[in-house]
Amino acid sequence: MQVIATIDEMTRFSENLRTRGQTIAFVPTMGYLHAGHLALMAEGKKKAENLVVSIFVNPAQFGPSEDFSTYPRAMEQDLEQCRNIGADAVFTPVSTDIYPKGFQTYVELEKLPHHLCGLSRPVFFKGVATVVTKLFNIVKPNLAVFGEKDYQQLAIIRQLVTDLNFDIEIVGVPIVREPDGLAKSSRNKYLSQQERPHALLLNRCLDTAQKMVEQGETDARKIVDMATGILLSCPDIRVDYVCVCDPVTLDGVDSVRKKALMALAVWLGKTRLIDNRMLVLPDRAK
Ligand code: PAJ
Repeated sequence: MQVIATIDEMTRFSENLRTRGQTIAFVPTMGYLHAGHLALMAEGKKKAENLVVSIFVNPAQFGPSEDFSTYPRAMEQDLEQCRNIGADAVFTPVSTDIYPKGFQTYVELEKLPHHLCGLSRPVFFKGVATVVTKLFNIVKPNLAVFGEKDYQQLAIIRQLVTDLNFDIEIVGVPIVREPDGLAKSSRNKYLSQQERPHALLLNRCLDTAQKMVEQGETDARKIVDMATGILLSCPDIRVDYVCVCDPVTLDGVDSVRKKALMALAVWLGKTRLIDNRMLVLPDRAK
């Protein structure tokens, strides 16, 4: 496995593979890798002959009061995990190469960021769209793999690839969870022992919502109220949003027809946690 720090070397690596007719799967990450990231890499390996992973904590997607400086980092362990899963190259650029002095071009979407996480994290998706665009141009993959854990991010990347004519297939991978249901996240490391059990309430809301839908409840307001009630039963939780929305546009819906995305974000102490699930109406025709 090659560990590549410079943009030129990364591009040469990919161009060399592509001129030989080989396919490249790409998994962009911010490191501190866990089983969720590894599931993306496994999917990439299945779908292409070569796997490139990037590890870059992207300063442009953190707001001034967010956790850029404390975001967990573990480069040596991360490289070991990439090696074990059989990555062919890991791209580990430095910030000053990605955003050199004078950098001034950003990628912004008009609609999708104005929902869910984008409302409380106004620079987040601009930073994500910009860095992913740059990484696509540098790595030149045939396909790129993203997690449904960050559902809005995945929707934004799909839109970006369509709008900007990237010839890259975007592959989504289902959320990987801890055995007790908590969605894996690099930020789970921030949770104290006291907070950790409360984090299960997110998945409990999503499960309960699906059960409500299976029992015939389609009123989005009632589903949101149920979830808000569960979350507010914990005094350490501050709710950012609880939404039932259209899975493509992310616009809020009043009722669940066939399927709708339920997404939520909370602060548990100092840790921001997100989770989501597709609510699917039972198929009455069966
Ligand atoms: P990061 O949070 O490191 O996540 C990298 C990829 O792993 C994303 O596609 C994310 O959705 C996926 N992922 C994280 N936890 C997951 C889980 N429990 N199950 C399945 N997939 C999971 O997302 C980013 O980094 C950055 O915004 C990035 C796209 C790299 C741009 O900087």
